[in-house]
Amino acid sequence: MDLKAKNDRSYDTDGIKVPVSLGVIMDGNGRWARKRLLPRSAGHRAGAENLKELCRNCGRYGVSYLTVYAFSTENWSRPDNEVSQLMKLFVEFFEKYDPELEQEGIRVRFSGDIAGLPENIRRVCAEGEARSMNRTKMQLIVAFNYGGRREIVHSVQSIARDVKAGLLSPEDIDEKMISSHLYLPDVPDPELIIRPSGEMRMSNFLLWEGAYSEFWVSDTLWPDFGYDDLTEAFRDYAGRDRRFGGLSKKETEEGNCQ
Ligand code: FPP
Repeated sequence: MDLKAKNDRSYDTDGIKVPVSLGVIMDGNGRWARKRLLPRSAGHRAGAENLKELCRNCGRYGVSYLTVYAFSTENWSRPDNEVSQLMKLFVEFFEKYDPELEQEGIRVRFSGDIAGLPENIRRVCAEGEARSMNRTKMQLIVAFNYGGRREIVHSVQSIARDVKAGLLSPEDIDEKMISSHLYLPDVPDPELIIRPSGEMRMSNFLLWEGAYSEFWVSDTLWPDFGYDDLTEAFRDYAGRDRRFGGLSKKETEEGNCQ
């Protein structure tokens, strides 16, 4: 049985459902630090440590694709020292934790405007992807210099180039084609998106892919978001009735269509 099929059936006896593809908006590092009278950089550091924990927990639960929002196209507007600390942390994370990611069988991929990143960061991305290419247990997709709107623009521009070259006509463009020109078209749309720290916003994360995602918000700040929070999210997700604009499963089974 392939991993996707296994996960699609993964209700366990405690009523937990594990999504095949999970998105996480890692929010609340700054508030976590402020509560402890620490600099924001300490919050980001604790957030990076917790990303390693999330990878381990998702791997244990059998998530196949984990997409985390690490740096948005809007985050460049933060103070220069915070941006450079985040870049430094990013480099350190993959230097420090790659052996653990390897042990867990985690392949690392990056999603975003990677060409717009400094040369040293682009190198870390390329090396991280190459090094982990053959790991098969789970994919960690790090959304870095990522914006959902920018990703849609990227897709549309690439299709427009094909139209201009005479390879396609405008009538050929449909939703499937836009999906197939996103940054990582083979990664399934997330069934569930988790946002710690209480904010009820998408913040430009996976706008296209998340059209029908279930959303789960927790008051826990990202650096404290642990195994129990993840379990609670999966338990809540098990009870969701995903309709995709149609009828509920129960209504369909009852043939209640009049
Ligand atoms: C939002 O919290 C978080 C970020 C902008 C950065 C997320 C980065 C990490 C978790 C660590 C680095 C990532 C990698 C891949 C090593 P915030 O600062 O906006 O928190 P606040 O809303 O409480 O101020």
